[in-house]
Amino acid sequence: MLSLRHLAVFAYAFPLNLRRLWNLVRWPKSAQPEQTVGSIDRRGRVSDPCLCRQLIEGKLTRGSNCNQLSLPQSMAIPNEGLRTVFGIDNAFTSHDPELVKAFVDAARGRIKMKPEEWSALTPMIVDVARRMIFDFNIDGMDGLRGPALSKEPGVPSFVKFNITSLVQVVSLRAILATVLKDEAKGSPSDLEILKLADQINKGWIQARKGTKDGTDILSFEHNEDLKTSLEAVFPHQAEYESNPLNILLPSFETMWRVVLRLLLELKFRTSRKNPEWAKVMISFCWNVNKERFQERRTPQVKLAKTKAVVVENSKSSQEKTPSAKDIVLEALRVYPPTRRIYRAYAWGDSQASCKLGSVDIDDMPSQLPFRIVAADIESCHLETDIWGTNAAVFDPTRWMNTTRAQIHAFMPFGYGVCECPAKAVFGPRMIGTLVGALLSALDDDECQWELWCTDDNMMNHLARKERLYLDRDAYDELEVIQVCSSS
Ligand code: HEM
Repeated sequence: MLSLRHLAVFAYAFPLNLRRLWNLVRWPKSAQPEQTVGSIDRRGRVSDPCLCRQLIEGKLTRGSNCNQLSLPQSMAIPNEGLRTVFGIDNAFTSHDPELVKAFVDAARGRIKMKPEEWSALTPMIVDVARRMIFDFNIDGMDGLRGPALSKEPGVPSFVKFNITSLVQVVSLRAILATVLKDEAKGSPSDLEILKLADQINKGWIQARKGTKDGTDILSFEHNEDLKTSLEAVFPHQAEYESNPLNILLPSFETMWRVVLRLLLELKFRTSRKNPEWAKVMISFCWNVNKERFQERRTPQVKLAKTKAVVVENSKSSQEKTPSAKDIVLEALRVYPPTRRIYRAYAWGDSQASCKLGSVDIDDMPSQLPFRIVAADIESCHLETDIWGTNAAVFDPTRWMNTTRAQIHAFMPFGYGVCECPAKAVFGPRMIGTLVGALLSALDDDECQWELWCTDDNMMNHLARKERLYLDRDAYDELEVIQVCSSS
């Protein structure tokens, strides 16, 4: 319990505000805010969950100095490279609060889906996935990963596909069929979809590099490859006022990366020890609704040939299988697509500057010097004080019994006023549907699927069963081979 003396000291040391008092009473010690000064590490990162929340909302103070930038400015400046590379003007890049609000409201409208729209999604994704796995051949396509299907002359044909390409194409198709259904009226081929995904990936890596180390950035206007791929997927884009990348980027870029990691976990890592987790996802994707998403089933055994009964009076009767939601949340915890949330801060301190790598900040009022700081979401999700010594292990069962500190530290969709509109329903549900449908497409009683890569380091990394890498291009060269008992 707090004594008056504690409160007095606290009030003396900090400019006491209601938020801090609330945090003090509500959260356990490990989650309480520290003194702001000195809590930003040498890389400009903050990893305490309370400070991360303040940082994300633009409220982090430096000594007694508050941020002189508005929240849209603070959010847009670190994303200036994305604006240059993709020509986007959206909630992430605009300094205009009106535009930000209108964009987020429109995004909310786009991700409201009817039950029948969810039901139509899984068969579509399974079809696309099977086509990609068994019929897709990009042999000879310069710069793209492949071939997806390999048939060597004189050797019995075997199926080999690139797993990153597969996940990117199905994720992009799902986003086009839902979030962008009004704009994506053409019927692009899988290859055109893959080329666009590839261009987005390259552009993203380029934008981050340019803003970090000053590498030159190719602007959208001069990037013919990106513009051609975009036109192939959105042939009618001239009819729309805004660049389709405005909404495609936030929805697709985060989605495919977490889907890939969850698929790798469930299909190739946990499948032997916990095969029921993959089954939960498959069952969910064929019946996408709130109840099925949250359902934790009690394991069943078959007594007679026909009759399934709940195991009674045994330990396993107490142990329920985690729900699809538990599994998705665990993927978002261990593999958050947004590892760090960046903000610009103008505190008037000596480390501030007016430049961001090779990118000019055009909309900056009176060239206020700023510095970029980051809320380290990945650290919050892996902190052993909060998540236990097995924090880096993918274990969905932990969601069946969470602490307040864990819920407080979990921020895959950001926090507060800039929190992602897809957090509550669309994001988690879409991840679950995509992963379930991909697992369905790979479900085969007669054949196994194995990971394969020419790089020994990658094979060793996978064999060690350590936490998967989070870099965008980490699994670009990773392939999956079908191994059938008859071959
Ligand atoms: C796996 C799925 C997703 C993840 C992990 C994710 C993550 C995030 C995060 C971390 C933020 C906060 C960014 C910041 O504070 O700087 C954010 C904001 C946002 N996200 Fe998502 N997102 C996902 C899917 C989507 C989808 C499908 C849409 C499409 C509508 C979307 C639209 C937005 C928008 C518009 C914002 C800005 C909100 C604001 O500024 O108020 N996101 N998202």
